[in-house]
Amino acid sequence: MVLRKDFLWGGATAANQFEGGYLDGNKGLSNVDVIPAGKDRVSVMKGKMKMMECDNLHYYPSHEAVDFYHHYKEDIALLAEMGFKCFRLSIAWTRIFPNGDDATPNEEGLKFYEDVFDECLKYGIEPLVTITHFDVPMNLVRTIGSWRSRKMIDHYERLCKTIFSRYKDKVKYWLTFNEINMLLHLPFGSSGLVFEEGENEETVKYQAAHHQLVASAKATEIAHQINPEIKIGCMLAGASTYPYTCAPEDVWKAMTRDREHYFFVDIQSRGEYPNYVKKMFERMNISIKMEDGDEELLKKHTVDFVSFSYYGSRLTSADPKVNSQTAANLFPTLRNPHLKVSEWGWQIDPLGLRITLNALYDRYQKPLVIVENGLGAIDKPDKNGYIEDDDRIEYIREHIKAFKSAVEEDGVDLLGYTTWGCIDLVSSSTGEMSKRYGFIYVDKDDQGHGTLKRIKKKSFNWYKKVISSNGEELD
Ligand code: BG6
Repeated sequence: MVLRKDFLWGGATAANQFEGGYLDGNKGLSNVDVIPAGKDRVSVMKGKMKMMECDNLHYYPSHEAVDFYHHYKEDIALLAEMGFKCFRLSIAWTRIFPNGDDATPNEEGLKFYEDVFDECLKYGIEPLVTITHFDVPMNLVRTIGSWRSRKMIDHYERLCKTIFSRYKDKVKYWLTFNEINMLLHLPFGSSGLVFEEGENEETVKYQAAHHQLVASAKATEIAHQINPEIKIGCMLAGASTYPYTCAPEDVWKAMTRDREHYFFVDIQSRGEYPNYVKKMFERMNISIKMEDGDEELLKKHTVDFVSFSYYGSRLTSADPKVNSQTAANLFPTLRNPHLKVSEWGWQIDPLGLRITLNALYDRYQKPLVIVENGLGAIDKPDKNGYIEDDDRIEYIREHIKAFKSAVEEDGVDLLGYTTWGCIDLVSSSTGEMSKRYGFIYVDKDDQGHGTLKRIKKKSFNWYKKVISSNGEELD
């Protein structure tokens, strides 16, 4: 058998795209709740268009999402039927601390996640929990400017202490920040940052990144104090960048592009700011405000494992004339003529997953977990409501083959694989429901209409077989 016996097969979700019940149980408002679907979505996520509260002109898909809040028992039962070993979900910060700075946590929120974890454990499913999946309490955005303020570290620390103490015997695997490098691309959508007229946005972003990195190290320290068995991971929007040609300038550009992302994990996993970043800060005239003890903390409390999302490789060129851009998880990338693309223009590259796994393992020498991967596609139910999602099966099958090769032939230490959006949920980049990733269809459309009924797709039984054979049966 290629994969370890306790391989964490499963799927992944995020509170704001899945849970709904956005004000239920005393939950407070988050940045992700004021991001509308439609044409303004990306401008709001990039922090270009200010949206500090909801208005009547837009539709906000997080508010109901697919209502896991009221369907969690039914949903977890379906995951258990597929044989899931692991379920990745995120905690909505504002369910625990509705305003972020509350003196005491909200018991209803704590109880909700406790019930969810108990439901998972009942079926032998290991919860893998993201502490923040792009969400920040709006109160902290308004009062202190979110992660631009160092005070956020204390608020995050209080959140971590609360959830680690409460769930210490129920949750072993935690991720501190989802796709931490997304802060550079979606400053509001991923970290609640909005900019003042004329300020240096790069300085604000890297200072906010420093606060998140310190907060991540603190979380690691606290978790290990509370229960030494807990494993803390970082989470990178991964994917190696290829050079467009063998021109050294292209190769150099590809390397520097990757470093923009590695920088975060270099600190979380190796424990210090790499020299190339210090030099970059000098060139950009950025000086990060650090406090005594920050560097020591970063060095001492590195992560136990490295996790990442992977949808497709990226491509870059030093030649400005080469400009055939395509979409890719909101990262700029050129269109690679050797690859097929999804209906949303995302490139499909299973071998790229093996390349990325090797790059990360060579660099960090820590266990890896692929916590997101999948095909966002339009699913059309037939007249009986059944969906034959063969393209999704093929996509996932080829990616499983690729990671098995990385384990078997290259010796990469891989702990698990959780496909993205195992139950259909709201797309993060577009706010649509029609960009579906699940093994389980949810009856809801892009305008928010539908019964929310769950229907198994063809991939449901296929993935069940994959899991029960520990990845040996892929046909
Ligand atoms: C990752 C995010 O960027 O990609 C998820 O962590 C997101 O939140 C996923 O949903 C897929 O992207 P999209 O835009 O297709 O939903």
